[in-house]
Amino acid sequence: MSLMTDTDLVLPTEADTEELGARIGATLDAGDVVLLSGPLGAGKTVLARGIARGLGVTGQVASPTFVIAREHPPAPGGRGIALVHVDAYRLGGRAELDDLDLDTELESAAVVVEWGEGLAEPLAARRLLVRLRRGDDGDETRVAELSWQEGAPT
Ligand SMILES: Nc1ncnc2c1ncn2[C@@H]1O[C@H](COP(=O)(O)OP(=O)(O)OP(=O)(O)O)[C@@H](O)[C@H]1O
Ligand SMILES: [Mg+2]
Repeated sequence: MSLMTDTDLVLPTEADTEELGARIGATLDAGDVVLLSGPLGAGKTVLARGIARGLGVTGQVASPTFVIAREHPPAPGGRGIALVHVDAYRLGGRAELDDLDLDTELESAAVVVEWGEGLAEPLAARRLLVRLRRGDDGDETRVAELSWQEGAPT
């Protein structure tokens, strides 16, 4: 993909983070897995909202309190790829992840997993990992690092 990987992307505002997500979403296909990592409030859900926009799916991307996974059907006239947005924060482990049947979803959807690093790697042989962190300056700046992972996590 044409996205810049393995380098720090500085995201001064929430809009910048959402825009990065939109650029990622525009490149995704069914079967693609994106893992979003970073601490509470790092901007994972903001990025997921942008991915939904770039992919062209319906429904509000939220930070659900009790919903672990939410499916967003493709918007009419779009690329026909659904988005499954998973928040693995409250998942007890791999067995609960398996219960979501994401491998079936991946036939027609891209899957984005918040808190997925160290858990959701078995979903796909190759994953896009986006690590988000706060910038050093203590304001709203975030920093993102994108990398493609293959095989078992390193
Ligand atoms: N540059 C920025 N990028 C993203 N979010 C930002 C930025 N600056 C400020 N924010 C704020 O940080 C918060 C990010 O929240 P978000 O829900 O996306 O985090 P999260 O990583 O999903 O957290 P959680 O682990 O609780 O799910 C939002 O309130 C957003 O407005
Ligand atoms: Mg979130």
